[in-house]
Amino acid sequence: MTEASVSLRHDLLIRGGTVIDGTRAPRFLADVAVQDGRISAIGDLTGHSAGQEIDARGRIVAPGFIDSHTHDDQALLSQPLMPFKVSQGVTTVIAGNCGISAAPLRPDMDLPMPLNLIDVPANERFTRFADYLDALRQQPATLNVAAMVGHSTLRAVTMSELDREATPQEIAAMQALVEEAMEAGAIGLSTGTFYPPAVKATTEEIIEVCRPLTARQALYVTHMRDESDQVMQALEETFRIGRELDVPVVVSHHKVQNRPNFGKSQVTLPFIRETMQRQRVCLDCYPYTAGSTMIRADRGMLEGRALIAESLPHPECAGRELDDIARDWGVDRAEAARRLQPGSAIYFLMDEGDVQRILAFEDTMIGSDGIPVGSKPHPRLWGTFPRVLGHYSRDVGLFPLETAVWKMSGLTARNFGLEDRGTLAPGKHADIVVFDAATIRDAADYADPTRPAEGIDAVFVNGRLSWQAGAHTGARAGQVITRA
Ligand code: ZN
Ligand code: CU
Repeated sequence: MTEASVSLRHDLLIRGGTVIDGTRAPRFLADVAVQDGRISAIGDLTGHSAGQEIDARGRIVAPGFIDSHTHDDQALLSQPLMPFKVSQGVTTVIAGNCGISAAPLRPDMDLPMPLNLIDVPANERFTRFADYLDALRQQPATLNVAAMVGHSTLRAVTMSELDREATPQEIAAMQALVEEAMEAGAIGLSTGTFYPPAVKATTEEIIEVCRPLTARQALYVTHMRDESDQVMQALEETFRIGRELDVPVVVSHHKVQNRPNFGKSQVTLPFIRETMQRQRVCLDCYPYTAGSTMIRADRGMLEGRALIAESLPHPECAGRELDDIARDWGVDRAEAARRLQPGSAIYFLMDEGDVQRILAFEDTMIGSDGIPVGSKPHPRLWGTFPRVLGHYSRDVGLFPLETAVWKMSGLTARNFGLEDRGTLAPGKHADIVVFDAATIRDAADYADPTRPAEGIDAVFVNGRLSWQAGAHTGARAGQVITRA
């Protein structure tokens, strides 16, 4: 057999589609071929053949989407088919955000909120980050994962009480755990200084704990101390940490919340843009005016409408308005919130203008921040990516489809250092989504948050067909992505 005839035969051929390659380049008509989990050719592949052929005429063929901000750490093991993500065209998730990770933990420890938002069962805990990644390799999920270690998790395993700053000994212990996680392949560290387990951590504590990031150029990713009145100070702290460590920073789910701050993205975004000239700054955003996190009554969280997503003591309240629950119980909203703890809620605290401005900002990546627990999650868990492609790009006209795809593939792979992913080109991993630009839309809403998106034809992870025509194929071809 000649070399030329060998290259005419592939595992998979996606024929006749319109390729949006994840670089922001204009779309073009081409066939895409896959061999051994990698893209083997792109172009006019007339005369080529394959074991599996997909007709993509009239469809977009794009890199599988990368969810830059997830809490899927445990779901990858407990719900390995990950239907809420693969149904949207997502092929890779970044786990370990907001200071919360599935490792390292101890079997005997209690998990303070929000560490239990990721739903870690006491009998399935990993004392070492390496063990967590090994478990993902041994029981692969449908999706690829790149994972970070969480600072609040490190505090919880290291410190006897969390309502103070760490001692030098505790900082040294946390540093050793960060080193272990980096050695195992963690791509960065996240903090969640907004949350009770890390509120008392000082900037200096964070810098010292994060020292091992510098040598590996791993990322510092943060749910900042404040996304409300003090958001500018919180950005300054984040940038300072990045400068002191000389590492890239990621501002997670950038937002400005509470009514007095509406419009403030007109100040935060220019500040981010200006800082980017001097240091590496990345940011992501989810396409909704409501957020979702643990139930709490402080920090102005109850200033707007609140929907209960999940309540441990009152599971019957999932999906209900906090106002209605409070009225039924004859108590005020804060008291009702306290009775519903622990749990999670959906808070309507943002302005549509800010959300659009942040989404449209050139360097903003798309990340769902979905919380994969309970029956009434925030609809972002099932809807984020089709919502950006359908609602914001096509219907609102916020940016071209090429830009939308880039914000959920090429840009994200570049920022997180995911080698050979995020763009379609020969030699790249074959993470691919085929969708209909005219019909793609998020079907999940606040009332019915687990409805799969429409308009996704097929999703391939490392060359394996994983989702097709509204159904999971059962494939679990996901890989653990570590630092090169
Ligand atoms: Zn967060
Ligand atoms: Cu988060």
